[in-house]
Amino acid sequence: MDPTYEEKKKAQTQAKVMLKRLGIDEHALNEYEVAVAANLVDPRCFDISWEQIGGLDNVKKELKQTVIFPLKNFTLLDNSKLMKPPRGVLLYGPPGCGKTMIAKATAKASGANFLFVELSSMLDKWYGESQKRVAAIFNLAHKIQPTIIFIDEIDSLLRTRNTQDHEATSMMKTQFMNYWDGLLTDSKSQVIIIGATNNRQALDQAILRRMPCQLYVGNPTPEQRYHILEIILCDEVLGPDVDLLAIAQMTEGFSGSDLHEVCRLAASVRISEYIDTTAADDKEGTEPSSPPLLQPLSSSSSAQPETGDPSDKVCDSNKQDKLENLRGISQTDLCTGVDKVQSNISKLFC
Ligand SMILES: Nc1ncnc2c1ncn2[C@@H]1O[C@H](COP(=O)(O)OP(=O)(O)O)[C@@H](O)[C@H]1O
Ligand SMILES: [Mg+2]
Repeated sequence: MDPTYEEKKKAQTQAKVMLKRLGIDEHALNEYEVAVAANLVDPRCFDISWEQIGGLDNVKKELKQTVIFPLKNFTLLDNSKLMKPPRGVLLYGPPGCGKTMIAKATAKASGANFLFVELSSMLDKWYGESQKRVAAIFNLAHKIQPTIIFIDEIDSLLRTRNTQDHEATSMMKTQFMNYWDGLLTDSKSQVIIIGATNNRQALDQAILRRMPCQLYVGNPTPEQRYHILEIILCDEVLGPDVDLLAIAQMTEGFSGSDLHEVCRLAASVRISEYIDTTAADDKEGTEPSSPPLLQPLSSSSSAQPETGDPSDKVCDSNKQDKLENLRGISQTDLCTGVDKVQSNISKLFC
């Protein structure tokens, strides 16, 4: 009896849907490759573009030059060994600064299949399975190339090997490296590994050597923070007092994800005001002194079909009007967001 049976069955169904969408014949794959295919993502579905990533111009430029261009023009550049894309790219830097966004945008722009590798899917509970999975990752990636194998938090998977490593883990790592070397020696291969980590120091030297393209994705500068704020707030209504330059100045040390949280909190101040006012209105509406806006149909004739309470409809349209007239985000809202995020960051360092 396999306790992971249900999980595997679900993954298999997911994989089949994805393979069909990508036009890949599942019969050309073995059972392990089909299981790994559950981690395939159709990059055309990513709702991410370069324009949505603020700052990081050097990283974007480097990736366009060294990964996207060679992948898209692979056959045209067939004769040049120097123009091949690198087999390993490492995106490193503090959390929340856009590493995952960059990897997705790279897959989308290059048109490569995107295979998202998770630690849990590799360290299978069953001895021997992990190695079959590693083989399946590389074989599947090869069969459906061009493919980007994305390993988020690569340090948790391939950190410096030590004597405490479980035998299966250490064998899996060695096998991973061997397959990786296979990519290095196969000039026709269009498979690239992109790893992301917050902790570059923890990575095995052997891994670092296999990743000649290493790009630092760091905390944004004030100018970049301004740009990121503009991107995050582009679809929002802003009050006339909003000064994003000032917000960019007061958010020293904030990551892109912190800035996103600032904006989310700022936007939600108005929502809580809205909820408070509608709650007050609802309360007023239930006062016995206030006459009903419309007579409920049910009270005039029991033969009428149930169509709901029309006063609800009036309330709904009132609510909609209020929602549509929700005030813009103000500078004070943004400052409140900054304070809250700042205090969360400070707690982390306590
Ligand atoms: N440079 C950036 N431009 C715009 N948004 C960003 C940027 N960096 C981070 N974000 C926001 O933070 C979220 C998390 O980013 P992510 O790519 O997952 O960071 P990382 O992988 O480095 O931890 C994104 O979904 C986005 O909302
Ligand atoms: Mg990430």
